[in-house]
Amino acid sequence: MTPPIPEDKKQLRLKFHGRVIDHLGIQMYQSPVAAIAELISNAWDADAEDVKITLPSTMTTGAVIEISDNGNGMTFEQCQERYLNVGYDCRVGVAAATSSGKLRPVLGRKGIGKFAGFGIAQKMVVETISGQNGERTVFELNLATLRGDEYITEGGQIDVSEYEMPSEPMKARHGTKIVLHNLSLQRAQNADQFARSMSRRFLLAQRVDDFKILVNGAPIPDDADLDGAEFVFPRDYEATQKPAAVEIEPNGWGKEDIGGGRLVRWRFHFYKDTIKEDELRGVSIFANGKLAQRPFDFNITGGISGQQGLEYLSGRVEADYIDLLPVDLIATERQRVNWEHPEALPLLIWGRKRVDELCRLWKEKRASDKVKALESKLANFSLRLAALPKSEQKTVKRALAKLAQISALTTKQFEDLGDAILTSWEAGRLRDLIHDLSEAEEMSTEDFVGLLMEANVLTALNTYEAVSTKVALIEGLRVKVEKNELELDVRDYIAENPWLISPRWETFKVETAIKTALADLLPAKYKPEDDEKGWNRRMDLLLASGDTLLILEFMQPGKVLDIGHISRFEYYITTIRNYIEANTGGRFKRCAGYLIANTPMKDPAVLKIAESKAKDDMLFMDWGTMLAEAERQFEDLIDTLRDRAPEDSRLKDLKGAA
Ligand SMILES: Nc1ncnc2c1ncn2[C@@H]1O[C@H](COP(=O)(O)OP(=O)(O)OP(=O)(O)O)[C@@H](O)[C@H]1O
Ligand SMILES: [Mg+2]
Repeated sequence: MTPPIPEDKKQLRLKFHGRVIDHLGIQMYQSPVAAIAELISNAWDADAEDVKITLPSTMTTGAVIEISDNGNGMTFEQCQERYLNVGYDCRVGVAAATSSGKLRPVLGRKGIGKFAGFGIAQKMVVETISGQNGERTVFELNLATLRGDEYITEGGQIDVSEYEMPSEPMKARHGTKIVLHNLSLQRAQNADQFARSMSRRFLLAQRVDDFKILVNGAPIPDDADLDGAEFVFPRDYEATQKPAAVEIEPNGWGKEDIGGGRLVRWRFHFYKDTIKEDELRGVSIFANGKLAQRPFDFNITGGISGQQGLEYLSGRVEADYIDLLPVDLIATERQRVNWEHPEALPLLIWGRKRVDELCRLWKEKRASDKVKALESKLANFSLRLAALPKSEQKTVKRALAKLAQISALTTKQFEDLGDAILTSWEAGRLRDLIHDLSEAEEMSTEDFVGLLMEANVLTALNTYEAVSTKVALIEGLRVKVEKNELELDVRDYIAENPWLISPRWETFKVETAIKTALADLLPAKYKPEDDEKGWNRRMDLLLASGDTLLILEFMQPGKVLDIGHISRFEYYITTIRNYIEANTGGRFKRCAGYLIANTPMKDPAVLKIAESKAKDDMLFMDWGTMLAEAERQFEDLIDTLRDRAPEDSRLKDLKGAA
């Protein structure tokens, strides 16, 4: 038998040291967003419609953060009984409690949230005006003092710094303002970043119209995170994929009973690129509109088929029921659900299943989108592919498909490269390389760079071929011109294809409509067909580029420029310019002209007059000069081509050709 207990040993006493506050505040809410989220939650519970947060722009010693709400406020009595009562149960034993006026689901539960302020500040000044009686109370909580009080159970002294008796007119000014002093933050917060982070902790502002959170005067953003999403579920379920249990709400969220009346609402976003931000990547769980679990992956262990998808996934799940259970499933620091608890298990199992299934769908969708994109890319080449023999088609197509899968290539780059590959194939080159490429499972960077270089050389070689043909042609023309042997039809052909003789005119297009209109403007006696002095029988060529018209007249080689040609040519140009001036609405603003004829060596006066017209965009050129000039330009082009890959033996070999 145990002996009787002496009178003075009958009771022990539970004592709380002031340091407990450290565990409740400082250690749990070190991020300003997490800390202030608690103060916002209190404003919601107090039926506030606006919570205004003012952040300091610089982190000076006197900097403060203010959180003010227009909620019910507190009477002096309530400050004592509720605010200063650590562990006070505002739900008074009923888990599904609602606020007094607006009947909002109450977020507060643990009776410690106010200490969150101590996570980022040494001192909190609370100013509150009760809507009930208009009483105003101001008091200060100072961490150093509270900590120093050995036993706060025996009554931590809190001094009231200002007090005003209950009064009718003050009732209208109800609300609470918390000012955080002596901030322990290194840097000033970026207000935009802060607002974005805060918006990820609350769905409240999106759900109801009568609650606004403002940061430095601006409301926190609404679903800003939607940008950049590639797939959104349940929206992007195909008919056969949507689980029967999932109902899609008008706002795009899915709703389902995960068993036993546990309702969840959810929306999963898969981004185009991997998500770099920790507070976005993963699935967040909300209870009554407030974050209860930071983004996580439902603690999935072991591989799932679309594992990679987790890097792209940002999901939100609303599971209000977890905050209405008799047990408090949300961990003290409110960033985590207590998943060890049996009551949390159904949500964990559901979450794993959804994540697994949606990551698999993501993988399939991505693959099929890629195939579609690939096919549309290849479609551009289909005609050219079809012209190849069947067996070759397959190889080239496979090689192009391999290229198209390289995500780093832009569409334009792919097209250029595809073009180079086809051209080279058609020219009988590159076969080995393309063959290798089509066989390759995955191309290494090295091989790819090799291919790019090869394509570059091949394009240069192809261009070289085209250019050198032109050079040869010009040489032939020059010989003929020198001998005054240029037949009229060759000259006409040049007139129609002026880019043959000068790369300068490559960007110009033949303008026929205007040419016809102009022919009628010229007086009959100036019409070229009347001319017997070697004028072409019609206006040779009218070219257009942008807002400029370029008129080209080719005299028969051997015909020497004279004063009559010059004035006739001037008349032409002037007629065209008058036409342009009369048609200010048209696209042309300028007109320039070239007259190609042999130089009047014997008449320096004519030469002088011709030269003087140059400043008026009327240019005269000798056939020989023009052709020599064209040759030189094309040769420059060949040099440029050779510079593309100076080490390549095929391009080196071109030296002799130029
Ligand atoms: N801004 C406010 N306006 C009116 N009353 C407030 C405000 N902030 C706190 N209170 C009162 O003080 C009490 C204590 O707040 P505290 O945040 O510490 O605990 P809680 O909200 O009850 O629970 P939890 O720890 O889960 O947040 C609240 O229940 C509320 O009655
Ligand atoms: Mg609270």
